[in-house]
Formats: sequence, structure tokens, C-alpha cells
Amino acid sequence: MKEKVYIFDTTLRDGEQSPGASMNTAEKVRIATQLEKLGVDAIEAGFPASSEGDFEAVSEVSKKVSNSEVVSLARASVHDIDWAWKAVSHAARPKIHIFLATSDIHMQYKLAMSREEVLKSAVEAVKYARSFTENVEFSAEDGSRSDPDFLCQIFEAVIEAGANVVNLPDTVGYAVPAEYGELVAYIRKNTPNIDKAILSVHCHNDLGLATANTLAAIENGARQAEVTINGIGERAGNTSLEELVMTINTRHAFLPVTTGIDTTRIYRISRLVSMITGIMVQPNKAIVGANAFAHEAGIHQHGVLQNPMTYEIMKPETIGLTTNRLVMGKHSGKHALREHLKNIGYDLSEEELKLVFKKFKALADKKKVVLDEDLEALVNEGVLRTADIYSLTYLHVTAGTTVMPTATVKMLISGNETFCTGSGNGPIDAVFNAISQLTETRSSLLRFSVNALTGGTDAQGEVTVRLKEEEVIALGRGADPDIITASAYAYINGLNRLEYLKNHPPRKEAEGL
Ligand code: KIV
Ligand code: ZN
Repeated sequence: MKEKVYIFDTTLRDGEQSPGASMNTAEKVRIATQLEKLGVDAIEAGFPASSEGDFEAVSEVSKKVSNSEVVSLARASVHDIDWAWKAVSHAARPKIHIFLATSDIHMQYKLAMSREEVLKSAVEAVKYARSFTENVEFSAEDGSRSDPDFLCQIFEAVIEAGANVVNLPDTVGYAVPAEYGELVAYIRKNTPNIDKAILSVHCHNDLGLATANTLAAIENGARQAEVTINGIGERAGNTSLEELVMTINTRHAFLPVTTGIDTTRIYRISRLVSMITGIMVQPNKAIVGANAFAHEAGIHQHGVLQNPMTYEIMKPETIGLTTNRLVMGKHSGKHALREHLKNIGYDLSEEELKLVFKKFKALADKKKVVLDEDLEALVNEGVLRTADIYSLTYLHVTAGTTVMPTATVKMLISGNETFCTGSGNGPIDAVFNAISQLTETRSSLLRFSVNALTGGTDAQGEVTVRLKEEEVIALGRGADPDIITASAYAYINGLNRLEYLKNHPPRKEAEGL
């Protein structure tokens, strides 16, 4: 039988460290629920000592998830471990994850600690965490740039102290596959008690090698991979779950391992994470990008029609991409909508369904056919998005070749309706000016992009914005058949996220992490 590789998902923790990708607690719980259905073994839900928001998120995810482990991150200190445990203690399967840097450069310049001090702190931290739970992981931060013999020494000591997982991060994404694979093999050979723990790997994508490095580590005996959906994460991101899992599935002859992932849920969760974080998936992204299964060239199309395997190495259905998806139109009833939403993963309450149905009818009046992408946007943005401080109630825009673009905007701000008129260089500028006047916000717009959600000239426009206020960055997203309305939704979503981040700052002692 094939050995299992444990999939440790850190979308909600390292993934959230992508600039601007903040998620509120309700959003994290929604993603965690889907991660559990996807079959991940562990869900790292946050770093409780770093902020109130992370504490709350770990605590709420712990209440909802029962099959997957819920992981709570901590530095090697009593203070952090206490916060981590307080947040995760009520999970069905709690785990404390302790990290401490082991490379000379980090120990000297970041920690100002000697090897002996780092070793002692790591052991004490693991022992302390073990006083709460048997499930303790130790990560040697910047492991790939650490002295291999020191790594073996520290791994031996923390396993002896009770860690059941030891993790080797390529924190700065510097490793190359052969080197990283060799390091894994070296650790396995030279850490006497390594068989008492699972050897895990955690790769960053700064050189575009995160998935390749993770695979090299697995080939050399690592049995846990730390990954994120769509590969989001700090800087260039982390190993992408979908790339790793689909490589294992597609090339099973070369990789004698298996995972517990239900691959048919991959596409759906990729969309969910992209919609919630506002981080678009690049069209040419492996597995989940819009072009991943699209064959433009005539010669390819011909081959694919004759036999899909001529050019397709994976079946789109394997990741949950179906071509014969049901199309809904304005004559579709509430029952059909409920069933269809269930099929694409949304089990809504009666109240929620009523609201979706109303919005669906309005959309179907504007757009002949409503596709899955439209429904997802409608459910995620129109219904499941948590109650916000700012929301749009009315928008009227005048623009054209001979008029000064003007926008009249009505908004609910903390429950009170207010309106104003703004002008600008173009209609979107006018709308954004009116919104910032109403909300009295001073964010700058760092990036603005529009995409069509589906094909066709009546497609919904999907707008994403990146906003910055002082040092806080937030992404916003909105969809509507009218791109000016979609822009207003995206801008307001970004402002709500900025408010959330301002109200959930890092704890004083965690600043600069
Ligand atoms: O990249 C890293 O080193 C981390 C650790 C906290 C595991 O994210
Ligand atoms: Zn990381």
C-alpha cells in the first residue's frame, strides 16, 4: 500500500500573510469548513498571539472543524503558547505549532541568540506545549539555510521533548530541488529518533520552485507537506495544494504516495479563496487558472475532440471542472436553484436562499444565462459576506464624450443612509470620489483591475482593487454586469477590509513580525 503524505493547509495563516489578503473570522470559518470537506489533514487557522483577529479565528475554526486537526501557531515562548492553546484547546483535534529560527543569520541578527540558547528554548517550548496536548509540531524557521548538523541536533532534542512533527521550512524560498531533497535525506539519516516523528516540509515560492522542492522532499521521505490554496502566501507565496496533489495523482507511478484529498473539490475551493481574499488566480496558473484546460490552437482542439488525452494530461472533472454544468435562466425556480447551489457546494438556510433567489432573478433579467461563476459571486458577495460598516444602496452615473462624469452615491454607513454627488476624470473616478467623501476615508488606490467573470458581452465584470491607508493594505472585490457598479462594490469592500484591519491591529508585542 502507498504511504500517505499528510496535507497541512496554511491558507488561513501563511496564506493570509499575502499582502492585503486579510480575512475576517466568518470568512476563515467558511474556508475552513470547505478545507475539511476537501480532506486536508490539518488546518492552520492563525497565530493567536499576533492579533485579536487571529485569536478569534483560531477559536471559531476550532468550534466548527472536527475531522481535520486545527493548528495554532506560536513562537517559542510561554506567552505565545498560552495564547495558542487558549484559542485551540476546544478543537476536536488541537495542535500547537512552535517555530524558532535555526539559521546562523537569523539567530545572530533576528534573535540575538546562540545555538545553545536556541536549542534550550526549543526544547522548553515543546515541553511546555506538551503539557497541554500530545500534538506538537516544531518548525526550524529558515531551516533550508541552517547548518544540517545543527538541524539534526535540534530535531533530535525536540522529538525527545515530545514533538510529533518536525518541520523544515524553506522560509525565504532559496532552496533548489536537488539540494532540498538531499537535506531531507540527510536529516532522516542523521537524526537518530526521526522515526518517532513525521518529517514535514514548508516551501516558499520566491524562485518559483515551491512545488518542485516539496516534491523533492517527498521523494526523499518527507511525509507532511505544508501548502496553501492557489499557492497564496507571504511574498511569492507557498507551495500550492492543487499543484502538489495533482502531481501526486497524475504521476503516481513516480511518486509512491497518496493523500486524503478529494480532488473534485479543488476548483471550487480555489474560487472560494480567490473570491474571499480578492487575490485573482492568474489565467495561466497550473491546475486552477482559467487557461489550464483551454485549448486555443486549432491543432490542439482537433486532437482533444478526437481523444482528450492527446493534449490533456488530467481530466477537468478530476478537479471538479465540469463542462456540462447546469445553466440557470430567469425561468428557473427556487427549488432548482437550491438543488443547483447544493451541487456546487452551497447548502444555504431558507433565509439565505430567499435572498439569493431575489438577486438571482434580478441578475437573470439582465443576463440571459446565469453560470456557476455568476452564482458563486452572487452567493459569496450578495449573501454570505458578513455585515459590513459600509454598503451601497444606490448608484447613478452620468458620463460620455461631452459631459463631466458625475456620480450620485447612496450608502448605508453603520446603518444610516447618506448620499452625495461626486465628479472625476471618468465615471469610476467620480464614483470613488463620492464614496471617499461619504465615508470620510483617505485611502490611496494602488491597483485596479477588471475581468470578465464568464464569456459573452453580457458577462459580469469582476473588479479587484488594492487600497492603502497609512501602512495598512487591503484588497477589495466586486462583481456586477455593470462594471462601474462592480467597481463601487470592490472599492467599498476594500474600505470595509481596511476598517477591519484597523480595528484588529497586531498586538503590541507582535509588531514587526
Ligand atoms: O516560512 C516559515 O518559516 C513559516 C514558519 C512559521 C513555519 O511560515
Ligand atoms: Zn511560511
